[in-house]
Amino acid sequence: MQKATIGVIGLGVMGRRLAQNMARNGYRVAGFDLDGEKVATFAASGAALAGCETLEAFLAALETPRRILLMAPAGGPVDAILETLTPHLASGDLVIDGGNSHYIATERRAEALAARDVLFVGMGVSGGEYGALWGPSLMPGGQRDAWEQMRPLLEAVAARVDGEPCVAYIGPRGAGHYVKMVHNGIEYADMQLIAESYDLLHRGGGLRNADLAEVFGAWNEGDLESYLVEITAKILARVDEETGQPLVDLILDEAKHKGTGKWTSQDALDLGAPIPTINGAVTMRFISAYKDERVAASRVLPGPEPALAVDKDDLVATVRDALYAAKIAAYAQGFALLRAADQEYGYHLDYGSIAKIWRGGCIIRAGFLDKIRAAFARTPDLTNLLLDPALGNAVAARQGALRQVVQWAAARGIPALAMSAALAYYDGYRAARLPANLTQAQRDYFGAHTYRRVDREGSFHTVWEDLERPSQA
Ligand code: 6PG
Repeated sequence: MQKATIGVIGLGVMGRRLAQNMARNGYRVAGFDLDGEKVATFAASGAALAGCETLEAFLAALETPRRILLMAPAGGPVDAILETLTPHLASGDLVIDGGNSHYIATERRAEALAARDVLFVGMGVSGGEYGALWGPSLMPGGQRDAWEQMRPLLEAVAARVDGEPCVAYIGPRGAGHYVKMVHNGIEYADMQLIAESYDLLHRGGGLRNADLAEVFGAWNEGDLESYLVEITAKILARVDEETGQPLVDLILDEAKHKGTGKWTSQDALDLGAPIPTINGAVTMRFISAYKDERVAASRVLPGPEPALAVDKDDLVATVRDALYAAKIAAYAQGFALLRAADQEYGYHLDYGSIAKIWRGGCIIRAGFLDKIRAAFARTPDLTNLLLDPALGNAVAARQGALRQVVQWAAARGIPALAMSAALAYYDGYRAARLPANLTQAQRDYFGAHTYRRVDREGSFHTVWEDLERPSQA
């Protein structure tokens, strides 16, 4: 029997759909899963798909050196598969982890496999089920040799924008999974900014879901054109078949998460990189999860009525501009985090190329990504997207809208943490002087932590009070 070019372990939705995509592009694919039903569904999904009931049969079905794609949930499942698989691997074999693994786990696994001369690629895959089948955005990291080997197949299956595949070599070790993690952090921010816009228009502006669907649909024709805005319009238009009510109103307001946004915040904190809009998005998911407490608190904690006394057309136009400005600020934070990570972890990232492969296939795909690509083409070493003339001007021109929206939200008691954080990031970043002078003085006061001065070099400490005498509080 003809051997398979590649094997997939983990035949859930993503594994099976990616395999179908490979088969459609002329590759023969073997598949293995411990769940026999999934193997059967896989085998029935295409003539070029060989379903294998055992690991032995799977390994025997592959060309050598073997190429194996793992599509398993991050964490323990990936380690469990590798533990079983590794003893069967030979020098020159290549393993790709296409799940949302933490980049540190990827670095550890790459090292362990390198000791056996097995190549390991940690690859971010974005685009959900549709993307996996018709063209995802792919972020492979690891040895460059491994990328070169996999390149034709990955370029064949990836999404395309302007004829160019949405895949590029990201960098060594865990770079691919790092960049996917930050993609997800930006995804959280984007989603939260859209949610806050919806809240302001819906609770604040009194717009009905059907009108909102039209608003988001129209936004998708302009600067905000993106997959997330597009699906928001479709979601808002959907009516529940059983009740005849807008489906979105029937969905419980508790946002779940699988960890990648939280990891982005955790890593940014470790790096000292400010990403307040992403942190705000993660935090609002957490607050949403306290449903019972919120319901109880809603009965005892007062606040203003959410209704805004604003002309509907003005409201829609202002929220649209605020959303776009906040979105740029959020992406600026994400790319600045990549820059900080690059410096710390030595990934040698190509930011323009990352923006380019995010233009299609992935969840944050948007026309706007081409503007980011163009910004890095103008200035490859751009320190912050806000410093790009086109993007910086786009925020500057819409800052009035963002300020207005944050004011409306605050005045009417509508939480807009991500929007406010985007504005504070913009104002903080453009502030030549922040009140950190006072913070430094306080640190020096209570802990003798010293401070630097603006008028001379050196490190200073002030004796703020006489320690020998108790203070006169
Ligand atoms: C993608 C997505 C995907 C992610 C889901 C769920 O790029 O295709 O980022 O990888 O797993 O969006 O993420 P949360 O459960 O954390 O919201």
